[in-house]
Amino acid sequence: MDKEKIVSLLNEDLEGEHAAIIQYLTHAYAMGEGEMACEIEAIAREEMRHLDWLAETIVELGGVPSLKRGEMRTGGKAVPDWMGNDVLQEEDAIKLYKEHIESIDDTKIKRLLKRVLSDEESHHGDFQHFVEKAQREGATDLRGARTDKVAQTLNWGIEHEYTVVLQYMLQSYLTDNEEAKEELQDQAINEMQHMGWLAEEMVGISGSPRIEHTEVDQSIETADMLRADIKIEQEVAAEYDRAAKEVEDPDLKELFIRLRDHEIYHAEVFSDILEDEESS
Ligand SMILES: [Fe+2]
Ligand SMILES: [Fe+2]
Ligand SMILES: [Fe+2]
Repeated sequence: MDKEKIVSLLNEDLEGEHAAIIQYLTHAYAMGEGEMACEIEAIAREEMRHLDWLAETIVELGGVPSLKRGEMRTGGKAVPDWMGNDVLQEEDAIKLYKEHIESIDDTKIKRLLKRVLSDEESHHGDFQHFVEKAQREGATDLRGARTDKVAQTLNWGIEHEYTVVLQYMLQSYLTDNEEAKEELQDQAINEMQHMGWLAEEMVGISGSPRIEHTEVDQSIETADMLRADIKIEQEVAAEYDRAAKEVEDPDLKELFIRLRDHEIYHAEVFSDILEDEESS
């Protein structure tokens, strides 16, 4: 099998991981702060590690990690239905990984996919258990229909954070500047945290988080990537600053100020790396 074919199979796996992450986070956020939501978020974090391994392997093979998201199952009225959807998502992943382990002849990649497969089999069991647990405990959908200005700002923030998570991850795989790679990975994790905080607040104010992203910067040169990142960080810091001044709720005010300060920090970190990059 040639490298191009392997890259296309791994990208298919990666798109599945992306879909699973967002599907599981959507469910965890909607359930609020409970033990089961925490466990589902932990599973989503394992899928993020899978995504990271797959993307690194794709880049090693000379490919570009896909930004597409595979099919999600976000239907279902009640929590046990959602957990049933997550079981099905894992079944799809297990089937696909088995096929790809069978068809790819590279020993190292086979080993990686087997490692991932064993996690998916364990997740499958976890979600089967959650179907029953959700029924037993009567877990409910805590989301509401609030769509006022505050809810719009929170969804705007979620959209921004999701976009930069993807952008910084992609850039971290593509850059050959080691310092940029490390910072981009760190900040991607931080933006993921931001997305979680905003989504949890959204459910807290009886709104409904919408986890969609806008266009991701596709620069090839590290300096261009950093310029795009600095611009977006500065814009978003100004936006969070404005939101902090407008909002009445003290918790939300505090959240927006914290986010603003993180984004200012990101812009500064990226500016320093850009300076080095330009002088090298
Ligand atoms: Fe999984
Ligand atoms: Fe952020
Ligand atoms: Fe940021």
